[in-house]
Amino acid sequence: MRREDIDQVLAIEKVSFPSPWGRKTFESELENSNARNIVAKEKKADGGDLVVAYVCFWFVADEIHIINIAVSLEYRGQGIGTKLLQEVFSEGRKKQCKVAVLEAHPSNQKAILFYRRSGFKVVGRRPGYYSETGENALIMSKKL
Ligand SMILES: CC(C)(COP(=O)(O)OP(=O)(O)OC[C@H]1O[C@@H](n2cnc3c(N)ncnc32)[C@H](O)[C@@H]1OP(=O)(O)O)[C@@H](O)C(=O)NCCC(=O)NCCS
Repeated sequence: MRREDIDQVLAIEKVSFPSPWGRKTFESELENSNARNIVAKEKKADGGDLVVAYVCFWFVADEIHIINIAVSLEYRGQGIGTKLLQEVFSEGRKKQCKVAVLEAHPSNQKAILFYRRSGFKVVGRRPGYYSETGENALIMSKKL
């Protein structure tokens, strides 16, 4: 992900989450040396690029923390999210990370199925993690 991708990333973010990240958050992730931010792009007929998905993650000691992932509405269900996760796992293995970790909203069953399909398991809960609703988060992890 580059700064020039952020407008398109924000458009996907807004329709994907009830409390979407803003521009400043993406900008600061691009500056964060422990973070990696990857976009999936499609070549348009006019030669330009269309951002169709992205994932943001951190290297934390020997863990990968996935902090954001979304696929553009029209491109969901085509395996693009899974490909992005595989890219994250491969980056993690290159850096000798042992595990990938993320927090999921328990009511986001689609996302939970999506993560399970790529090998994540629920390993715990964080009480009151989501400040807007007070809902617990599920902690999911996968060995790399
Ligand atoms: C979750 C998300 C990233 C999945 O991306 P995607 O590219 O559509 O997922 P894939 O096509 O790779 O699907 C992989 C698996 O996930 C599961 N899955 C994906 N979408 C699903 C849906 N709508 N309903 C049920 N299962 C679903 C399926 O098991 C699927 O495997 P299958 O196609 O063999 O059945 C995408 O739906 C999205 O952007 N959602 C909104 C943002 C979000 O919730 N992010 C996660 C926050 S924790």
